[in-house]
Amino acid sequence: MLELTDITKSFRTGPAETIVLNDLTLHVGEREFCSIMGGSGSGKSTLMNIIGLLDRPTRGQYRIAGEDVLAAPPDKQSALRNRLIGFVFQSFFLLPRLNAWRNAALPLMYRGTPEAEARRQACAMLERVGLADRMEHMPAMLSGGQKQRVAIARALVGQPKVLLADEPTGALDPKVAQEIMDLFLEVNRELGVLVLIITHDPHIAAQCPRQLRLGGGRIAQDLRMAA
Ligand SMILES: Nc1ncnc2c1ncn2[C@@H]1O[C@H](COP(=O)(O)OP(=O)(O)O)[C@@H](O)[C@H]1O
Ligand SMILES: [Mg+2]
Repeated sequence: MLELTDITKSFRTGPAETIVLNDLTLHVGEREFCSIMGGSGSGKSTLMNIIGLLDRPTRGQYRIAGEDVLAAPPDKQSALRNRLIGFVFQSFFLLPRLNAWRNAALPLMYRGTPEAEARRQACAMLERVGLADRMEHMPAMLSGGQKQRVAIARALVGQPKVLLADEPTGALDPKVAQEIMDLFLEVNRELGVLVLIITHDPHIAAQCPRQLRLGGGRIAQDLRMAA
């Protein structure tokens, strides 16, 4: 599903060049569930942004479902991102002036889905993530765990093939973090979506069937747990 080959990413700040990813190769199959660990500054977010088509590598090849996405023009890349990829972040990034269902419906609105249909699908997804009784709540009226559930509903509403989560439990207390992790495991199993989750929490990583570690700009460790 995701095929990254010899991906290099460097940033130029003044005269110096920082190489963050250095000939990184990673293949992830449909329906896999992977954690990505690595020290602060090891390039986890940079890698996730490249995978999510939010950023481009300096060089290398990247195919999603066989398609050479780096060769695609920008508007095609945006369309692929909207259709194939859902994002979840540590700090939720909900729009404060929109209620839960309107936040969850955003990817559909960007696609031009009529509002009534977008609302129906957003509410169904909110129900799916355990927020049936919070459809009209504004983000400020939700707990951290509930906000992250809205963000997960928004990430999944467009039926993506890939769910990318950058430290999604980093702002939550351990009990709520586990509930959110259980939700990721459930949607991976039941919706068949590929999940990539960046985490600093060894307890979260230990629950992932495949555990990756970034180091030296590459995949320094790639462990698969016995089922
Ligand atoms: N836009 C940018 N410009 C310059 N340097 C960057 C940029 N984005 C990230 N970096 C650098 O790349 C390295 C990796 O960053 P990041 O991917 O955010 O690490 P992680 O998520 O693993 O903590 C850091 O040294 C960071 O300073
Ligand atoms: Mg990061």
